[in-house]
Amino acid sequence: MSLLIKGGRIITATEDYQADIWCEGEQITRIAARISPAECPPGVRVIDAAGKYVFPGFIDPHVHVYLPFMGTYAKDTWESVSRAALTGGTTTLIEMVCPGRAEEPLAAYETWLGKAGEASCDYSFHMGVTRWDALAESQLREIVSRGVRSFKVFLAYKGALGVDDRELYHTLRLARELGVVVTAHCENETLVDERQRELIAAGKTGPEWHEPSRPVEVEAEGVHHLMTFAKMTGAEVYVVHTSCEEAVAEAARGVASGVRAHVEVVMPHLVLDRGYAERSGFEGAKYVMSPPLRESRHQRALWAHLRSGVVSTVATDHAPFDFESQKTMGRGDFTRIPNGIPSVQHRVEMLYTHGVCEGRIDLHTFVASASTNAARIFGLRGKGCVRVGGDADLVVFDPGYRGTVSARTHEMATDYSAFEGWEVKGRAEVVTLRGSVVVDGGRYVGQSGTGRLAPRA
Ligand code: URP
Ligand code: ZN
Ligand code: ZN
Repeated sequence: MSLLIKGGRIITATEDYQADIWCEGEQITRIAARISPAECPPGVRVIDAAGKYVFPGFIDPHVHVYLPFMGTYAKDTWESVSRAALTGGTTTLIEMVCPGRAEEPLAAYETWLGKAGEASCDYSFHMGVTRWDALAESQLREIVSRGVRSFKVFLAYKGALGVDDRELYHTLRLARELGVVVTAHCENETLVDERQRELIAAGKTGPEWHEPSRPVEVEAEGVHHLMTFAKMTGAEVYVVHTSCEEAVAEAARGVASGVRAHVEVVMPHLVLDRGYAERSGFEGAKYVMSPPLRESRHQRALWAHLRSGVVSTVATDHAPFDFESQKTMGRGDFTRIPNGIPSVQHRVEMLYTHGVCEGRIDLHTFVASASTNAARIFGLRGKGCVRVGGDADLVVFDPGYRGTVSARTHEMATDYSAFEGWEVKGRAEVVTLRGSVVVDGGRYVGQSGTGRLAPRA
């Protein structure tokens, strides 16, 4: 199909200019100040982007879709998560493969890959390493040879997904040898475990005790730990969902000492503070995630680090659990509340509303942190940019749109929204994925199964 996007203001991580974009097949074939429809093949679809921004398709490098976790399963399917992501302007997702410790990595990879077959956005994976032995090592090598260029380790979730120091060390050594990035959830699992026990024993069982069970020191120690191991092994690392000033500082210290490290923040930590998790009547459970929501001073710090470039990416850590049937598993014991906040649909509009419109970040930082940097760090070829030869993943964004978030209208499968009633400024009006229109007039028009495993460099 031929597409001609006319008159938009093209914004990339480094450029800002007015031009027309011609897409033929799956790629961008020409960008010029003026392209007449007469120059394109008959039947070209012309999209009027006058008064709109044209951004590269956004990339969320940290989501969970198929997730057996804390005695239940995350709620979305690839069908629902793709609808939600695309409606919000996100054209590529990187999912965490999270096998149980007894599972073989290759079988797990194939399970996760199979489920993504119904996606209508593009996707890739971080391969979770939850055990280390000869079989796991040989299968991880095989998975990397199939094109997966990043691992995921959990320093938290003792006895479940978490790895010990020996497993961490060998995973990082292998990553260094194979040239893959290791993404890491950084919290000291022993400290979390002990504090959880003490709080529950003291009758402190509500969701408001989740944050005190894993305070900032616990996260900062996790990041320091990862930096030490990365330094010893030479591996390139990526700290996921960094929630607080102290944790960013540990990563920055690691970088200053020569560690190749990247820092990710996630939308919930940027816009929600711990007061949400302290809401009465068990309402706070909707806001239980790990690391937890923090005091608002940390939000100010995260925005500042995003502005200055210390933070590279804004993801979601989309981990969707229903309130009524799943979060309530933790009534009377906050350690049993499935951790996670659904947010894949709202990342781009929230970052625009609370970042760009509030003057916290400029348009280039917006694009870099929500798209281009993830493409660069994780080697997503042809993504995260607007250039001839690149994938025709484009977002025509209407900055004048005003809307309200609600679980009644969102595309995610959960029965609640953490942002119920929030106003958003701007929306993805037209979204193209490899040259096909998948969102039109703000409405999803994609087709299940048309998403593709994105090639990685
Ligand atoms: O609370 C969270 N973050 N849930 C999803 C699993 C993880 O730790 O990323
Ligand atoms: Zn995590
Ligand atoms: Zn996660």
